[in-house]
Amino acid sequence: MTAELIEYAARLPKAELHLHIEGSLEPEMLFRLAGRNKVDIPFGSVEAVRAAYNFSNLQDFLDIYYQGMRVLLTEEDFFDLTMAYLNRVRADNVRHVEIFFDPQGHTQRGVPFDTAISGILTALSLSKAQFGVTSKLIMCFLRHLPEDDAFATLKQAEGWLDRIEAVGLDSSETGHPPSKFERVFKAARDHGLKCVAHAGEEGPPDYVREALDLLHIDRLDHGNRALEDEALVERLRAAQMTLTVCPLSNLKLCVVDDMTAHPLKRMLDLGLNATVNSDDPAYFGGYVMDNFKAVIEALDLSRDDIKTLAKNSFAGSFLSESEKRAHLAAIDRI
Ligand code: HPA
Ligand code: ZN
Repeated sequence: MTAELIEYAARLPKAELHLHIEGSLEPEMLFRLAGRNKVDIPFGSVEAVRAAYNFSNLQDFLDIYYQGMRVLLTEEDFFDLTMAYLNRVRADNVRHVEIFFDPQGHTQRGVPFDTAISGILTALSLSKAQFGVTSKLIMCFLRHLPEDDAFATLKQAEGWLDRIEAVGLDSSETGHPPSKFERVFKAARDHGLKCVAHAGEEGPPDYVREALDLLHIDRLDHGNRALEDEALVERLRAAQMTLTVCPLSNLKLCVVDDMTAHPLKRMLDLGLNATVNSDDPAYFGGYVMDNFKAVIEALDLSRDDIKTLAKNSFAGSFLSESEKRAHLAAIDRI
């Protein structure tokens, strides 16, 4: 039964809406790029890197994530990174991706904004031309840095705004509430960009409220802790807000103690528009189908639940209404 459901999930067309492209840097590529760029890394082997991927919270992970990024220096590096991800998701029948990148993780190290975004965009257009996988790009602000730095990043993005769909907010959540970025999100909206934000991963329900009220988000990244507040759940449900949930990430970062305690099924039962995503697949143990497999095995999901998750991924995307309709109809045919 479980095997059949996993096979069904694998066959369904899906969209991935929560993916940090820098978090798709597999240890093998980390080594290859370190060699190519002559960057020292504190690991002797791919196995040693994998063994270091044990985290007790979000900050633990972020420290290693920012270390890993140091091997990304040239446009070709960003192209190779993005292409490897796009090649990998095809095996999971992912037909559309909306990916985050962290420009400040690169500009802070002296890598120009244009270098990072050029490499990523070239891979995204090649993937559409070669495989028909469509994409949108979301530029994230690092919330542990001051809002002024986010404003400087928005300025650097000015020549690229026709190729950036939205701004996002990621990095260390605790102590860095959405309210810290109210002005820069307003500026982004004034530029015509959509808005998303990580909230309620480690932070309290009030951070989710701030993301709604102050950042005017179009989509909520994670949102797990919203479930602690009934009125907030009702509000998210009434607004038909999409939640980009990341089960294996939640397990690896100890947001949940065990996959059987994951709130995904509860979210669906409450009428929330949850989706399944991989967040940082190289660090958290898998891509979209690995996440589906984990929740199908742990949470007793029904065939209808799985179909709803796939449908939510397109319905909650930033594709046009007609593109959404075509994907939803394809799901109904399976
Ligand atoms: N949370 C916050 N920031 C991040 C994450 C995450 O899961 N992954 C990469 N940056
Ligand atoms: Zn994330």
